[in-house]
Amino acid sequence: KNIVILISGTGSNMEAIVRAAANERWPATIAAVISNRRDAPGLKTAASYGIPTFVISHQEFPTREAFDQALQEKIDSFVPDLVVLAGFLRILTAGFVEHYAGRMLNIHPSLLPSFTGLNTHRRALDTGVKVHGATVHFVTAELDHGPIISQAVVPVLENDTEETLAARVLQQEHIIYPHAVHCFIEGKLKIENGRVHIVEKD
Ligand code: GRF
Repeated sequence: KNIVILISGTGSNMEAIVRAAANERWPATIAAVISNRRDAPGLKTAASYGIPTFVISHQEFPTREAFDQALQEKIDSFVPDLVVLAGFLRILTAGFVEHYAGRMLNIHPSLLPSFTGLNTHRRALDTGVKVHGATVHFVTAELDHGPIISQAVVPVLENDTEETLAARVLQQEHIIYPHAVHCFIEGKLKIENGRVHIVEKD
């Protein structure tokens, strides 16, 4: 199976997936890591694992559609079974999302459906919720609303700052995201009426 991972920044989730794939000998290849930002530190990390890296800068395209078109062509040149968004900070067009329906995953740093969008840790602290977390989901046209594959919960502590809370959540992301991707690769995820079931294959 071929996996293409899209990043915009540090790429720590990408690295967690790359390491799990190697350590657990997944029947899968991380065929490419693509960033929309030339300066994404995750590009160097990916290269250090011998993974081909590419930059497709959204700034070089006149429209969202043109960027998504170029991105899609690059991704499809690797004939991916799965596209993994790992801190990829671009809103994608409906056509792009449709093209990868059922084979594109995202991780969002909140317990969806709470706190879709940006600044999730700040908003969790401001709201006073006592638990927070992260969600892995299939990507659908509506932002942060696709079928949920898995979630991790962390406590919100009295003295938390955005940074301490983000770090606690990120630690869990590095566990649940590789696990969800592994389940997908093993063919264990079934979507039924917008819900994901994890099934054992016979
Ligand atoms: C993660 O918190 C992810 O949930 C969010 O952006 C962050 C990316 O971190 N979408 P990294 O690039 O994987 O280190």
